[in-house]
Amino acid sequence: MKKLGILFVLFIGITLYSCEYKVIEPIEIVLPPPPAGGYSFATDIEPILTKDDCTGCHSSSNALDFTASDIYEQVTTETTVGSFGSAGLSYINETTPDQSPLILIPTGEDGHPSLLSPTEVALMVAWITDGAKE
Ligand code: HEC
Repeated sequence: MKKLGILFVLFIGITLYSCEYKVIEPIEIVLPPPPAGGYSFATDIEPILTKDDCTGCHSSSNALDFTASDIYEQVTTETTVGSFGSAGLSYINETTPDQSPLILIPTGEDGHPSLLSPTEVALMVAWITDGAKE
């Protein structure tokens, strides 16, 4: 019985100890001021999509090919999202930019690997808010 008591105290101790580290500080991302003409796909977004993290899977064998020269068209004119996300949505949600499948899917929605940093997400939201210019 005494052993059980010790185990119980240990259990509570470990539980409380681990709780201490569960506090998630909200991260505030401050982006540098937008360039004179506003954010653009070519300068700000394409470098995110064409990094190895994405093109390792998103090449010609995938519905979204980030190695092709028409990435901007693929991302802005596609009207239905494939296996991830809900069909019938476009990749970009101009009304609620942070709800765009282009951002939600690569941050882990529906089992897709989560690969975008908070800064990349902030940049993509800013680009869409700015009119998703080429
Ligand atoms: C481990 C492989 C893998 C990596 C790495 C990966 N993806 Fe994907 N992604 C997939 C697969 C598989 C699909 C589903 C493809 C389909 O629907 O045809 C997908 C779908 C998507 C979709 C929705 C496409 C659709 O119509 O279903 C988006 C947007 C997307 N990925 C963005 C990204 C971005 C941005 C990156 C890099 C940050 C990335 N992915 C990295 C495998 C990957």
